[in-house]
Amino acid sequence: MTVVAIDGPAGAGKSTVARRVASALGYRHLDTGAMYRAVALAALERGLGPEQAASLEQLAADLDLAIEGDRVLVEGRDVSARVRQPDVTRAVSAYSAVPGVRAALVHRQRELAAQRDVVMEGRDIGTTVVPDAGIKIFLTASIRERALRRLADQGADDAPTRSELEASIAARDEADATRAASPFVRAPDAVVVDSTGKDVDDVVAELLLLIGERERR
Ligand code: DC
Repeated sequence: MTVVAIDGPAGAGKSTVARRVASALGYRHLDTGAMYRAVALAALERGLGPEQAASLEQLAADLDLAIEGDRVLVEGRDVSARVRQPDVTRAVSAYSAVPGVRAALVHRQRELAAQRDVVMEGRDIGTTVVPDAGIKIFLTASIRERALRRLADQGADDAPTRSELEASIAARDEADATRAASPFVRAPDAVVVDSTGKDVDDVVAELLLLIGERERR
């Protein structure tokens, strides 16, 4: 099976780009961030705090969780929009730092990678989940641009300002990069693509070119 690994920080445009690249290649698209968000939501609903490591590990291992295209299903319930709400976004870093949660989700992700060709996006795909991925992309953008994109994604209701968003994005980057279990770092053999100032079509074209070049080697 072929795995295209796309890692990068929050707001770099990974999901849009990964979805488009997957559709161009006829591969499955798997957003691993959505899996961490689903576990965070299930934990919040059960009143579990990030310090309850054993219960969280069990939850991540046993939870009836499915990612179908862009839909996130927990126990058959469509929580695709719910997992993008601010309370889940605020909480997800702390839950995703729990080693047992990571181990359970990495295990599920490897099983999915073995089933069919996939474009997998996340933070640790090229470093931990599939270190022998056929191609590894590290997609990034300036903090300012990432905040502007998040702002455009949000509804008008109680939307934070750009500077608030920049601060919360920077805080989440820092939390993800400094956690003890599988911190968010760039794989040394990843190709860095900076999407600042580029439109989606150009970034998708750049990635497809890189993937094509790698396949011809
Ligand atoms: O990409 P996202 O914002 O939906 O990710 C949500 C959180 O999950 C993010 O704070 C980091 C974490 N995450 C992770 O630790 N490892 C992954 N492979 C994907 C996401």
